[in-house]
Amino acid sequence: MHPENILNIENVHKIYKSAGKELTVLNNINFSVASGATLAITGPSGSGKTTLLGLCAGLDRATSGTVKLNDIRLDELTEDQRAAVRNNYVGFIFQNFQLMPTLTALENVMVPMELRGTKNIRAHAMDLLDKVGLAERSHHYPVQLSGGEQQRVSLARAFSNKPAILFADEPTGNLDAETSEKIEKLMFELNTDAGTTLVIVTHDLELAQRTSRIIKIKGGMIISDEANGR
Ligand SMILES: Nc1ncnc2c1ncn2[C@@H]1O[C@H](COP(=O)(O)OP(=O)(O)OP(=O)(O)O)[C@@H](O)[C@H]1O
Ligand SMILES: [Mg+2]
Repeated sequence: MHPENILNIENVHKIYKSAGKELTVLNNINFSVASGATLAITGPSGSGKTTLLGLCAGLDRATSGTVKLNDIRLDELTEDQRAAVRNNYVGFIFQNFQLMPTLTALENVMVPMELRGTKNIRAHAMDLLDKVGLAERSHHYPVQLSGGEQQRVSLARAFSNKPAILFADEPTGNLDAETSEKIEKLMFELNTDAGTTLVIVTHDLELAQRTSRIIKIKGGMIISDEANGR
């Protein structure tokens, strides 16, 4: 693989088995992402976008095929080893937020930094919450936050370790236009300022148009993969 590629996906299949039946959710996926690139993945509901993002980030395993992140074969690692790779290189914004219900907004943002042993964690986490417009909500628990607010906490958490690659699953799906714009600006600043690679799943065509490449998937297959002629 080219060293300038941060992500390399080859012949990836994901098949779920239930009640003796096989369901092919991803069917022979192949693509690479250059380090520092911005990429949007679009496609209809149920086409496999979230599943694909989870495999790329090492949250889940492919049924077959190879997934390389920063030249590390994720498919050959144990769960613990994949967790370590995620903590070192990956930020992930979940479609359903996945905040820890027993932790406050501030504590949720602090978790990845604690795992890494960063310094000045609390101040840095507060700063990130402030950037997403939630300084006043730092001591609230997820149930006390609206969907859009939880999404913004999830963003602050994903940014906390300055990831080499950020995977965002519908990052603006629950936000109003003004807040979306703010969040998008933060993501693209991370790309231009820190060189963070962005892989964004989105139904929002305007957001997709801001990236330099768009992959369309349908029925678990890539149906187009094109540079975005902005
Ligand atoms: N654990 C599972 N077991 C069985 N089938 C699953 C599982 N997880 C996902 N699927 C199926 O895989 C397909 C792809 O799901 P996925 O969540 O990746 O779609 P998506 O493209 O992200 O859709 P959306 O736009 O609605 O978020 C769906 O048909 C879904 O029902
Ligand atoms: Mg999804």
